[in-house]
Amino acid sequence: MGMIRVIGCCVLLSLFAEAISIINAEENVEVRVKSVTSIAKTDDNFVCATLDWWPRVDKNLIHRIQDPFFLSQVAKTYSDLSKVIEEFGPWSGAWVGEAGGAYNSGSKDVSHTFANGFWYLDQLGMTATLNHKVYCRQTFIGGNYGLLNTTSFIPNPDYYGALLWHRLMGPSVLSVNHNGSPYLRVYSHCSRNKPGVTLLIINMSNSTSSRISVVNDMNPYTTNMEVSNKGGAKLRGEYHLTPKDGNIQSDVVLLNGTPLMLTRSNDIPRLKPKFMDPTFPILVPPQSFVFATLRDFNAPACA
Ligand SMILES: *[C@@H]1O[C@H](CO)[C@@H](O)[C@H](O)[C@H]1NC(C)=O
Ligand SMILES: *[C@@H]1O[C@H](CO)[C@@H](O)[C@H](O)[C@H]1NC(C)=O
Ligand SMILES: *[C@@H]1O[C@H](CO)[C@@H](O)[C@H](O)[C@H]1NC(C)=O
Repeated sequence: MGMIRVIGCCVLLSLFAEAISIINAEENVEVRVKSVTSIAKTDDNFVCATLDWWPRVDKNLIHRIQDPFFLSQVAKTYSDLSKVIEEFGPWSGAWVGEAGGAYNSGSKDVSHTFANGFWYLDQLGMTATLNHKVYCRQTFIGGNYGLLNTTSFIPNPDYYGALLWHRLMGPSVLSVNHNGSPYLRVYSHCSRNKPGVTLLIINMSNSTSSRISVVNDMNPYTTNMEVSNKGGAKLRGEYHLTPKDGNIQSDVVLLNGTPLMLTRSNDIPRLKPKFMDPTFPILVPPQSFVFATLRDFNAPACA
């Protein structure tokens, strides 16, 4: 009992320390992409959606899905599964099926909104890194967590996140780490359209300042990097996803500031990047997602 109290007290203290450092911090973040070997491979069609739904909703969902410590809890399950497969069934591959993020057809305030991307895009990044082959979203249509609105069939924000993932992120996954706040999540794959790499950056923070510079880490073995080149000289393509009116519970997502709406002929709108000078750091607004394509990032693993 005494033991348990001590542990509870330490956890509280360290959470408090975390909060203080987040409020005061301004950081320059360096993201290192290990470019020589890939660490995992997904199927060519990684993004999948199912047709079915489930039962329960949690009032704290909106906070939990922006909490990196909560999001990381499931990583152990994925990682254990990958290890089991590697050892006992290397001819097979792990898929995630029916992943809805919340029971009971999803949360009516969260699952169909921009905010759900904190969970969904992070899941795609995490499971790909842990060598899963396919990730099936619950659902394509149905419940509150459909990629399409169940009555109007209009795409919800996650639909566009999924589409950008599918178009930009290739199957080869690169190891990436950074020295910034845990509220910043970064994933990197070889680009679907060669050459170069694409980063997915998720900024869950609403308080910690950071600016991202991307470093090419050519050393495949250690975490002590040898920097051999910076991001490169070609313009960097950036797809910034933010919520309409800054409301993360909006059903409408903006791409580089423009709302994504079906065209007059009910087609998906064109998804155009904005091009940025690669010598400037990547700035990711609070509570937003960015896909960044670095065409001349020389990654041997992506050749
Ligand atoms: C579907 O769209 C309608 C009309 O815009 C909206 O009222 C409803 O909340 C949406 N439903 C879901 C589950 O997103
Ligand atoms: C993430 O958002 C915070 C504001 O909440 C901002 O200060 C910070 O610079 C952003 N991070 C990046 C990498 O742009
Ligand atoms: C900022 O994030 C913290 C921690 O997730 C949350 O408690 C707080 O309400 C947020 N503040 C704003 C202005 O959204």
